[in-house]
Amino acid sequence: MKEKILALLQNAKTYLSGQEISEKFGVSRTAVWKVIRQLENEGYEIDAVRNRGYRLRTVPDILTEERLQKCIQTDWAGNCVAMFEEIDSTNNEAKRKAEAGAGHGTLVVSEIQTAGKGRRGRNWVSAKGDGIWMSLILKPDIEPANASMLTLVMALAVVSAIRGLTGAKAEIKWPNDIVLNKKKVCGILTEMSAEPDLINHIVVGVGINVHNEKFPDDIQDKATSIFAETGNKITRAELIALTLKRFEHYYAQFCRFQDMTALLEEYNDQLVNTGREVAVLDPKQEYRGTARGINGRGELMVQTEDGMRNVASGEVSVRGIYGYV
Ligand code: BTN
Repeated sequence: MKEKILALLQNAKTYLSGQEISEKFGVSRTAVWKVIRQLENEGYEIDAVRNRGYRLRTVPDILTEERLQKCIQTDWAGNCVAMFEEIDSTNNEAKRKAEAGAGHGTLVVSEIQTAGKGRRGRNWVSAKGDGIWMSLILKPDIEPANASMLTLVMALAVVSAIRGLTGAKAEIKWPNDIVLNKKKVCGILTEMSAEPDLINHIVVGVGINVHNEKFPDDIQDKATSIFAETGNKITRAELIALTLKRFEHYYAQFCRFQDMTALLEEYNDQLVNTGREVAVLDPKQEYRGTARGINGRGELMVQTEDGMRNVASGEVSVRGIYGYV
């Protein structure tokens, strides 16, 4: 009944009275009222006006498996979707699924993560309705040593999708952050299960802040959301679908040489670090230099006093000297 009443409200051009709805579906007016309350609790905003009836004002950005399947128009990425209301971490769930035999392209999405993971053992805040918490399972036939570049491939896909849907100039902060106006809007965490020369599976986890209006004090100067920067209320299912579509495109380019050669120019065009002073947080020794873009191996080239150094993403973190970027 809820779906039927919702469809009626969505198609109505004007107010619908409780009487009309109850007659149409042969239910009592109390039953109609209960459905309206239920929809309001789910986030639908419904105007209720005496003597006129009900009118649907706004539809919440609800993520469902059905909506995702409708939006995703890809050859293989997201061809199988597992949607959860709550999970520890979509990366953990994707790993469990991959070990149990889930195929290349399987996508795990959750409304809430209770133990969302960031890089370097940090946690990733993943509240309900605010963002996209998703992980894509890949089973590529590539050398394990080349797998970390898939973070860079996904970064290109997310930038392209955010730009495509909002027009905002999203940029990449090497290797795994996407920024809007120099603040972090997305993080990527790639994990791999492999033998010395064989990949069992790779999980590329993506966290995108979409609707957040506020951030905790300790991160508010470096974290942001698509809504906070653009004022756009985008639909998460559409952003997921476009990200997957773009990922397929860049992934095919990556697979040609198993490196970033074919994507070098485009990647460096989107890179926010270029020309900036950076601190390379190498566990052996921290050093500083000027970022000069990536090379074909996806390493950040940093000009130091002692010459050019190529920084591989697995080992270190890079931060701006004059701020987060
Ligand atoms: C980072 O910037 O440190 C990486 C953050 C990655 C967060 C995403 S949210 C979906 C997926 N599941 C996780 O537990 N983490 C990634």
